[in-house]
Amino acid sequence: MSNRASLYQTRYGSPDMAVPAAGSPIIDHLLAHRSVRAYLPDPVGDDQLAAIVAAAQSAASSSNLHAWSVVAVRDPARKARLAELAGDQAHIGQAPLLLVWLADLARLEQVARKVGEAHVALDYLEMFEVGVIDAALAAQNAVAAAESLGLGTVYIGAMRNRPEDVAAELQLPPRVVAVFGLCVGTPDPAQPAAVKPRPPQSVVLHHETYSLPRQAAGLEQYDGAMAAFYASQGMQVRGSWSNHSAKRVRDTAALSGRDRLVAALNALGFPLR
Ligand SMILES: Cc1cc2nc3c(=O)[nH]c(=O)nc-3n(C[C@H](O)[C@H](O)[C@H](O)COP(=O)(O)O)c2cc1C
Repeated sequence: MSNRASLYQTRYGSPDMAVPAAGSPIIDHLLAHRSVRAYLPDPVGDDQLAAIVAAAQSAASSSNLHAWSVVAVRDPARKARLAELAGDQAHIGQAPLLLVWLADLARLEQVARKVGEAHVALDYLEMFEVGVIDAALAAQNAVAAAESLGLGTVYIGAMRNRPEDVAAELQLPPRVVAVFGLCVGTPDPAQPAAVKPRPPQSVVLHHETYSLPRQAAGLEQYDGAMAAFYASQGMQVRGSWSNHSAKRVRDTAALSGRDRLVAALNALGFPLR
């Protein structure tokens, strides 16, 4: 079996996954992504950080506005405080570097003031979305870049559990908010992370028009692939991917405090009109 065939089979958890004729080293690299939650203490150097941020800045940006920023946190005490704010996730303390990705409309307000313009549009949900999308695109470039340097990463959505406290810790001005964190570090070879299967393309790829019913067979297949994945990892998981995913959306408690995100954003200078 070719290396590329094995990448596809692992990505989809399916031994009979067809390998497209189109391919490239970058696609191979992306197919091998896995989140890393166990790190060696080796620091992430300034040169590595500079290269990762250059890759992040190379992402497209809505209207070339660059409505995002990132805070690199290395101080163990600050990382520990942020870990506590993000559900006490042990890998945040362990990773030598935590990147906190921000939707940043404060810079645009400052630019507008400097040139004597109003900045009414910054109050709208649309501009908040621009900041979140810009931050996410930049961060994902950073993930691919970090992985290409032999580093591992894991996103930390729990950085939205307590947005005001995170903003205070990072001294964010109004109109700046953490979208998510990203742990970065050298993966601990003693606890290797596995590639987690994705749903078959029939679930996410639609041709010309969208269809929910056409996804059913692929979702059933995915429950099977995830059950095999859990078993291969020795994970005692009760219920299927469908059961799990349904639990993640069944009530407000599942949002881990993020049910009050609109109020938090309002308090942080995002009116979201
Ligand atoms: C926006 C976002 C937030 C996430 N938040 C967390 C988190 O707080 N803690 C965590 O351990 N993993 C988190 N993850 C990682 C996902 O659980 C992971 O990407 C998913 O299970 C797929 O696994 P893989 O990345 O290994 O392919 C997050 C991922 C994304 C994209």
